[in-house]
Amino acid sequence: MTIAVNGTIVSLPDDPRVSLLDLLREHLHLPGTKKGCNQGACGACTVLADGERILSCLALAVQYEGRAITTVEGLATDEGLHPLQAAFIEHDGFQCGYCTPGQICSAIGMADELRRGVPSHVTRDLAAPVIALTHDELRERMSGNLCRCGAHNGIVEAIAETFAELVP
Ligand code: FES
Ligand code: FES
Repeated sequence: MTIAVNGTIVSLPDDPRVSLLDLLREHLHLPGTKKGCNQGACGACTVLADGERILSCLALAVQYEGRAITTVEGLATDEGLHPLQAAFIEHDGFQCGYCTPGQICSAIGMADELRRGVPSHVTRDLAAPVIALTHDELRERMSGNLCRCGAHNGIVEAIAETFAELVP
C-alpha cells in the first residue's frame, strides 16, 4: 500500500495505528507539519489531501492509501514560494512559526472550499456557486487554526491579500 506525499510515492507503514502526522514527521522526516495538541483542537497539523484540508493527527495513515498528500514542504516550486507563504512574510503572519504550516495549508484548502461553494456556519446564501471571503467567513473558516503568539492580524491580512479575487 502506498501514499503520495508532495508528489513522491511512499510505502505506508506496516503498523495500521500510525497517524498520518506521525508518518509525515517520524517516518518521512518532514517536520514542517507540526504536532500541537495531537487531538484535533489546534490545527497545527493541517495538511491537504487531494486539495482538501484535514487534521493529520486525527487521521490514520492507512486511511489515505492511494491519496495525494501535500504538506507545507510541497507548496513552493522552483519559481519560488507559494504566494501565501510570501504573503505571510510580507504581513508578519507569524512569530514563533509553530502554527504557520497549518495556517497556510488550511487557508489554501479554505479558498478552494469557497470556490466550490461549500458553506460554513456563517454563510448567508447557501445556494451561491462561489462564496465570498468576507470578514466573518475568513474568521469562521480559520477558527480551527489557533495561533498562541497572537499573530492573527497578520495571518488574516496575508490570506485576504493572497485570495483577493474572493474578497467582496
Ligand atoms: S495537532 Fe492536530 S489539531 Fe492539534
Ligand atoms: S506564530 Fe506562534 S503559534 Fe502562531
